[in-house]
Amino acid sequence: MCGIVGYTGHKPAQEIVIESLKKLEYRGYDSSGIATYEDNIRICKKEGPIANMESVLSESTSTTAIAHTRWATHGVPSDANAHPHGHTDNSIAVVHNGTIDNYLSIRESLESEGYNFLSESDSEILPFLISKYYSGDLVEALNKALHEIQGIFTIAVIHENHPDEIVAVRNETPLVIGVGNSENFVASDIYAILKYTQQIIYPEDYQIVRVTAESVELFDAELKSIDYNVETVEKYTEVSEKGGFEHFMLKEIFEQPKALQDSLTELLVESPLERLGLNWKIGSISIVACGTSYHAGLVGKYVIEQLTAIPVSVSYSSEFRYAAPVQGVGGLLSSRPLVVLISQSGETADTLAAARAAKQQGCHTVAICNVPGSRITREVDGVIITKSGQEIGVAATKTFMTQMQALYALATHLAFNSGSLDHPQYKLWESEIRRIPSKITQVLNNCESIKKLVPHFTRAKSVFFVGRNINYPLALEGALKLKEISYIHAEGYPAGELKHGPLALLGEDTPVVAIAVQDHTYSKLMSNIEEMSARKAPILTVCQKGDQQVPKISDYHFELPEIDPVLSPFPVAVFLQLLSYYIAHDLGTDIDKPRNLAKSVTVE
Ligand code: M6R
Repeated sequence: MCGIVGYTGHKPAQEIVIESLKKLEYRGYDSSGIATYEDNIRICKKEGPIANMESVLSESTSTTAIAHTRWATHGVPSDANAHPHGHTDNSIAVVHNGTIDNYLSIRESLESEGYNFLSESDSEILPFLISKYYSGDLVEALNKALHEIQGIFTIAVIHENHPDEIVAVRNETPLVIGVGNSENFVASDIYAILKYTQQIIYPEDYQIVRVTAESVELFDAELKSIDYNVETVEKYTEVSEKGGFEHFMLKEIFEQPKALQDSLTELLVESPLERLGLNWKIGSISIVACGTSYHAGLVGKYVIEQLTAIPVSVSYSSEFRYAAPVQGVGGLLSSRPLVVLISQSGETADTLAAARAAKQQGCHTVAICNVPGSRITREVDGVIITKSGQEIGVAATKTFMTQMQALYALATHLAFNSGSLDHPQYKLWESEIRRIPSKITQVLNNCESIKKLVPHFTRAKSVFFVGRNINYPLALEGALKLKEISYIHAEGYPAGELKHGPLALLGEDTPVVAIAVQDHTYSKLMSNIEEMSARKAPILTVCQKGDQQVPKISDYHFELPEIDPVLSPFPVAVFLQLLSYYIAHDLGTDIDKPRNLAKSVTVE
């Protein structure tokens, strides 16, 4: 979603912030802009890629700049709605991530005072409001403005009277300060500035930050100066190359064996439960996440419930926050509920809000996250870091894989700890988890046969994905992948559920992808396939190696490598990712940056 970068130092700021802004492009945006200090504040902004803005940008000698990539929330993508927003007198420029809930009433009141708005954006109230309160100190003016606005935000401001100063603040959306050598940075995301510094300050909500080339100051709401920690973060391997692949998504699909391998050491450590603070008999688990991470959570439910006696519920983050309190809250300490939050980015606003709600209720919170140092990892009680490496494609692939792996590892640890797995059984599970990378490599090696299936889908009106038991979440994930990158309508369903309504939609132009592994639901699934086939829907099945029956009732089939059905979600996921990728490729969509989507969803 929106990205913010600011620089103040002794070097030409324009080049630095534009280069940094490009590091955030993968997150999805529709326009970009920059403000520099020339004789007064100069703003340049354009709809479309950063290159559009660069093409109209004049030279600059400014050593201070703020820049922004916008993902539209209020008002269409356009030059006027792009950030930074300024004052008509060119005295100030503001960039904003998030949303201002009460902007309409503030706008009306500012308009009645004579302020002239040029955009439809909620953010445009900010430069006017801050200017209105400005009487020589930008921190003070921003603080006064904060008393009026409600919403979630990261804001960065520059003012003509303070040419070497950036003032910034956050509430519920990310803000990091990068500390350099006679230069300092503000950003919404550490990726933007890691090239320049690994010394990072993480301000809390409503702490106002003032950075100049030589200083960083933090203030509380009473404008008292406060101390802060500077943390050294691990340098994240920067991903800028597709390594010979046509898209980042394809590269990331092929990186999955390595991602799983790299994550293993983190997951199969000694005493992992103590490390996560899980030192009591857990009575219930709630898993909370969005999108693909939610689907990983659903897989986790099946595996945890299969291996332990612990009941697991799975909720969308956006629903969890407003639902009834978690079961077990308010009971004895020994039954304290565990809430597992899954977010590859660690910045998803809905999941962060859910984490805070869970903590407020007294739950123990554990996050499964792919970005060390991200917001969620700093707010929860325990963290499992997956080591997929940076994921650039908007469609989550390798992070989904390692999230599932983390949940399998958690399930085995919980089962061993509670005695439902003895040591030999635990060791058997551990070795099975270790074998997953080689299993999925076999699917990757078979990608040519997946490509051949594409023509059966490119003209489809709609595609149904069905599965049962632990592969029902994979049906959901298969449908999500297909719709987000190919724009073909797709639905994921438990196979037994189609006859309760959706069967009405099936026909020759509605193919079905059925995940048919040989677990205890196999015979029922066969009947479901027959039902769909009787409605003339073309059936593609994903079945286990050596299955003699499913291919006979399918129009096409794909064989998984030999694998225990409980581990089948891993190779099934690779098959579904590749199928969607090749279909989208055939249709010529923008696979790495699908329309309307963002990699990191920082608004609720
Ligand atoms: O960063 P998160 O895992 O919290 O993101 C959650 C969803 O926005 C994300 O999984 C989304 O559904 C995927 N990009 C879809 O491929």
